[in-house]
Amino acid sequence: MEQALPKIVTFFNTKGGAGKSKLCLGLAYVLHKHGCRVLIVDSDPEQATSANVTRLMDPESTFPVEAVILQAPRYPDPQRPGHLKPDTAAYLAQVLQLGQGYDYVFIDLPARSEEPEQLAALIGADFVLIPSKPGRADVRVLRDIGIPKLAKSLANVEHLPVIAIVPNAVQRHNVDKVGIEELTDIAQNNDYIELSVTAATVPDSVALEEMTALNVGLDEVVTKKPARDAAITALTNVALEVRLLNKVRPAKRKSSAKAAREEA
Ligand SMILES: Nc1ncnc2c1ncn2[C@@H]1O[C@H](COP(=O)(O)OP(=O)(O)OP(=O)(O)O)[C@@H](O)[C@H]1O
Ligand SMILES: [Mg+2]
Repeated sequence: MEQALPKIVTFFNTKGGAGKSKLCLGLAYVLHKHGCRVLIVDSDPEQATSANVTRLMDPESTFPVEAVILQAPRYPDPQRPGHLKPDTAAYLAQVLQLGQGYDYVFIDLPARSEEPEQLAALIGADFVLIPSKPGRADVRVLRDIGIPKLAKSLANVEHLPVIAIVPNAVQRHNVDKVGIEELTDIAQNNDYIELSVTAATVPDSVALEEMTALNVGLDEVVTKKPARDAAITALTNVALEVRLLNKVRPAKRKSSAKAAREEA
């Protein structure tokens, strides 16, 4: 039987510290718990995600979450002596090659906006998840730098990925309503983004910290049980809402250019 291609999920935000790696690890964990095979492609030279990934593994599981470190190969550029030219296509081909036999390939990108891996990972993605804190500075960077970059990268792509902004580090008792509204606004005013801000926000939870700090899976975090449960619920909701998991509540669709394009 022919193996289905893995779904490629790219975690994108040109802002550092937005929560890309955290969301990547958290969602990988949740999908892993639902029996999916997940490969994390860590394209951040600092490689924090892959350093943490063994901690996600459930020793009982047949299919642990696995991680590889991968960057685009770079070759001497004949046009600019002394410069190296990244091979974006080779990077994407390698992602697909490595992803054989997995249900999902998660690509964790670095923040810097000019990384060649970013373009390949956006072009090749089935899903682009954009974690953003709802704070003023983060919202501004997303609107002025991240989204234009995303739009430029996807300008000639025939099949747009499912793109969602995922508000991250939202404090349950102190929700930044203005920030969430601004993120919703960005999503609704952008033709590329099919899903509005997902209603299921990832809480600012100590459980996620513990998960990576204590070498345990999210469900083994014990000292902060309410935080752990909130994190698992939120991450599961995100996975459902962006349709990574299948028990789909109908996602909020925009009657936007995307729908029109699909009908055409
Ligand atoms: N939901 C959350 N709850 C608690 N801490 C969080 C959450 N999201 C992110 N953090 C913390 O914020 C910091 C930045 O998060 P993370 O490393 O995921 O961001 P990033 O977008 O991957 O950053 P970079 O661009 O540098 O790779 C980390 O210390 C992380 O532990
Ligand atoms: Mg990161």
